[in-house]
Formats: sequence, structure tokens, C-alpha cells
Amino acid sequence: MRTQVGIVGAGPAGLLLSHLLHLQGISSVIVEARSRRYVEERIRAGVLEQGTVDLLNETGVGSRMRREGLVHHGIELRFGGRNHRIDFAALTGGHGVTVYGQHEVVKDLIQQRLADGGDIRFEAADVSVHETDSARPKIRFTHQGEVQELDCDFIAGCDGFHGICRPSIPPAQLKTYDRVYPFAWLGILAEAPPSQDELIYANHPDGFALYSMRSPQITRLYLQCRPDEDLAQWSDDRIWSALHTRLGDGAGWRLNEGPILQKSVTPMRSFVTEPMRRGRLFLAGDAAHIVPPTGAKGMNLAVHDVKVLAAALDGFYRKDAEQGLELYSETCLARIWRMQRFSWWMTSMLHRFDDKSDFDQRVQLAELEYVTSSRAASESLAENYVGLMRR
Ligand code: APR
Ligand code: PHB
Repeated sequence: MRTQVGIVGAGPAGLLLSHLLHLQGISSVIVEARSRRYVEERIRAGVLEQGTVDLLNETGVGSRMRREGLVHHGIELRFGGRNHRIDFAALTGGHGVTVYGQHEVVKDLIQQRLADGGDIRFEAADVSVHETDSARPKIRFTHQGEVQELDCDFIAGCDGFHGICRPSIPPAQLKTYDRVYPFAWLGILAEAPPSQDELIYANHPDGFALYSMRSPQITRLYLQCRPDEDLAQWSDDRIWSALHTRLGDGAGWRLNEGPILQKSVTPMRSFVTEPMRRGRLFLAGDAAHIVPPTGAKGMNLAVHDVKVLAAALDGFYRKDAEQGLELYSETCLARIWRMQRFSWWMTSMLHRFDDKSDFDQRVQLAELEYVTSSRAASESLAENYVGLMRR
């Protein structure tokens, strides 16, 4: 089997890359470990920057997102029993974000790839990459009981944080930066109409809470918890009670409850690999970097990586120019580090750190006071959240 670009992983990064390459007349095959159903139902974050929305629209995969996505022009920050709105539209010249689940983006991309004759091998086992330093790298895998070998010009490692592509690069060739936070998020999806239109990020003495949504019928909520939290200890009643406390019912607002459809615990870390390339293997998305979800940047960074990679591959095939490929890692890392800083900062400002001193806790509140009272500080949060960047 032969293709131009072999892609490992059918998350947002791998699927969008395959779609962009198809539009440029470049062939690809995606090799995915899980089933189609599994990837389409995997609940993840769901905030799209305008640049992500624009790219999906411009490349013809935005019609359901335009119908069902919820456009937001601000968020609320709650702390010290008070509520402050950060008005993105006023602070960024009319920009906002779109709330649309990552798995919905994944469904739309799979549908489009299959309609365009795309080749996605779901439920591939024993996936491995070979000869990535040569001009003919290979992906080997077992599919429907048969061992397959895919000859490629390039391999895109879009296989997430736990994939095989990054570990295939000798550790001495990579520099990794890692920070693991001493907490996690307990996330629920509830069949309850959202109580208000915009997201709420709450800093409470019991810990962080986030109020979000997926649709006019479904609310998405998160609670800061221990990294080793046992979900069995969290009855539905306990979850709702903690959410009411931390999100602060009252003052004309009350969190709507409903049946809990799904519960999960997400660990929190910041992680970057440099460079994002080894020979003809290019890493993109979570395979190369992880952000804590507080800034809602994970999928947006993955989308940016593959946009840069698709343009670089276009330059290679159409103009025989290697420059884009040479600059791939550096170009992506500039944005990644900026968004790492933002995600770390939002995380640090909003969570309870049990090991911090009373002084540190007061400085955290002073930071929130500053962000919500200074136009310059609110503007900084807003432009990072909506994703404005020159490159
Ligand atoms: N072989 C084939 N596929 C694999 C392998 C493997 N050995 N290991 C992992 N995969 C697949 C996973 O099943 C998954 O479908 O790679 C895909 C990686 O997708 P994501 O984890 O969604 O990563 P990415 O596409 O980079 O998207 C980043 O995901 O975790 C969120 O917050 C993150 O929103 C961000 C987004
Ligand atoms: C979500 O809706 O899942 C969500 C929203 C904002 C975040 C993280 C997750 O910062």
C-alpha cells in the first residue's frame, strides 16, 4: 500500500490534516487504533477560536457547526461571592468563540472524508512507524487480521499524548517540558438546559468549578478534584451540591439540574516536545503538546498545527520547496508556547493549590481583582481566549 502522507490517529488533528491535504490534491491514509463509534463519542472540550471556525467554514466542513454551534461573546469569572463579565466583543473588536463539542467536529470531518473517498483504517492494531529518517517512511499495522505496510513520503504523528509516534523518536533527539498539576477535573454531561448563555469560571475556597454547555438541552460542568479521585465516591447528589456551592447560586441565578449522562476525571498537565519533527515524521496536536483545559486551547492548537503542516506539504509537492517543512516546528511552537503560558496562567489563577501559603492565596485573589478591574488586563485575557495572534 502506498500513499503520500500516512497519518497516525483520527482525532481532530489527523482528520483535519487528511481533509486539508485532499483539498490540495495530496493523498493520505489514516490509521486509527479505535473504532469509528469510539472516536465519534469521545467527549472532550468544545470551545473553538474564530480562526478554527473560519478554517472549518472555508474548507467546507462548517455547515452543522454554523447551525448548532453557540457563539459566545464573553465569559464570567466568579470569585469572592461576586461575578464579573469579560466582554470579548468589546475588548477585541467584536470577536468571540463558538461552543461546539470536539466530538461533533470529529463526526463532521469523518463524514466529509468518507464522502470524498477518504481512507480511514479504524481499529488498527500494533501500529508502528519505521525508517522515518529515510525518504520512504512506513507505517506497519494489523487491520482485519492482516499485517499491512503503508509506504509514505511523510508520516504525520497525530496520535495524541499516549500514541506511538513521539516515543519512536530517540529521547536524546527531543527536549520535553512537563508540568503535572496537583489536581484534576471531574467532568459531567447533564441533561439539563443551560442556566445562562455564557461560561462561568469560578474560583472558590473548595476548588475551581466551570459551567459550560453543549446545546440548549445539555449542560457541561467541571469540578476541581484530586488527580487520583475515585468516581465511586461522587454520587450525583454530591456532585450537584459541590457545583451549587462553588458556582454560587443566588443573585437571580440558579444552576439547573438534570440526569447525569456521563462522568469522567481528566488529569491536568502542561507538556511540550521540541522539535516537532524528526526526519520525515511530523508530530501534530496532542502528540506534541498538552495544555491544561482551563484556557480551552487543546483543539485549537491541534488545528493550527495541521494548518501549518498542510501548507508546508503543499509547498513541497507543488513547488518542491522544503522551507515550509523546515520551519514547521518553529512556526507551531511560537503559538504553542504563547498558549501554554495562557493556559498555565488561567489554571494558576483559578484553582485551589493546597500547598500554597496564605500569602499566595491572597495574591491569587489580587490577580483576579486586577484582571476584572483593569481594562488592559481584561483585554489580555480576552485576546488570548479568542485566539488573536499575528502568526
Ligand atoms: N495507533 C493509531 N491511533 C492511535 C494510537 C496508535 N498507536 N494511539 C492513539 N491513537 C489515536 C487515538 O485513538 C485518537 O483517536 O490517535 C487519536 C489522537 O486524537 P486526540 O487525542 O484527539 O488528539 P488530537 O487529534 O491531537 O487532538 C487534540 O484532543 O485531547 C484533546 O484537548 C485535546 O482538544 C485537544 C485535542
Ligand atoms: C467545555 O465546554 O468542555 C470546556 C469549556 C471551557 C474550557 C474547558 C472545557 O476551558
